[in-house]
Amino acid sequence: MSIHTRLLQFTDCHLLGDSSSTLRGTNTWQTLQATLAHASTHQAPWDITLLTGDLVQDDVLGYRHIRRTFETSQVPVHCLPGNHDDLKGMSQQLSAAPFHLLGSFCRENWLVVMLNSCLAHSAAGSISRAELARLADLLHTTHHEHALIALHHHPVPMSSQWLDEVGIDNSEAFFAVLDAAPSVRGVVWGHVHQAFDGERHGVRLMGTPSTCAQFTPRVDDFAIDSKPPGYRWLHLHEEGALDSQVEWVF
Ligand SMILES: [Fe+2]
Repeated sequence: MSIHTRLLQFTDCHLLGDSSSTLRGTNTWQTLQATLAHASTHQAPWDITLLTGDLVQDDVLGYRHIRRTFETSQVPVHCLPGNHDDLKGMSQQLSAAPFHLLGSFCRENWLVVMLNSCLAHSAAGSISRAELARLADLLHTTHHEHALIALHHHPVPMSSQWLDEVGIDNSEAFFAVLDAAPSVRGVVWGHVHQAFDGERHGVRLMGTPSTCAQFTPRVDDFAIDSKPPGYRWLHLHEEGALDSQVEWVF
């Protein structure tokens, strides 16, 4: 077995300030705890945790629960915001170790870029010119061989009209940066509350289910699926292979 870095991605936790409250009938605090318990049982040990947005449901008090859940983590916890997040509230609670907000990191010969795809006052996403420039700069100046990009919003259509109205509005510009960087092996996101696995020009494209409720795939109107909470593991191999799979918390 080659040397590889083990990442676990948890996304769209949608925590509320009151951990006994529910969101459309789901106690998002309890489903997060169940998801983490599953990961501890089946995936431990791992090297890095990714939290890819919508950590709270429009409630900055929820970040205290994220902090107390992960603050004793022995591995770095890299976070980025989603459309239901508040970057200021996030940075207040999730700025000290083990937390890292946005930025990028290197592990072995891999570069992982945590990208901000949020658009103010919108459920849809957009990657600002500054973020695109930061991404291009990292890909061209950081010493690495392989790269993974994490963000909140989906950069490709999900065959679901309502969801595709709240994806990234400038995917062409995003993919133009990727097309100019041969090191990119994968792109991973949240937001869509469902599993997705695709490919574009040799780059693996991965959508990850939420730690709370899922959306029904490939329907034009919003609908809640009966799928359980989920998360994703990613193994970044030294020679550039990227193994990844979604795990469902039954
Ligand atoms: Fe979202």
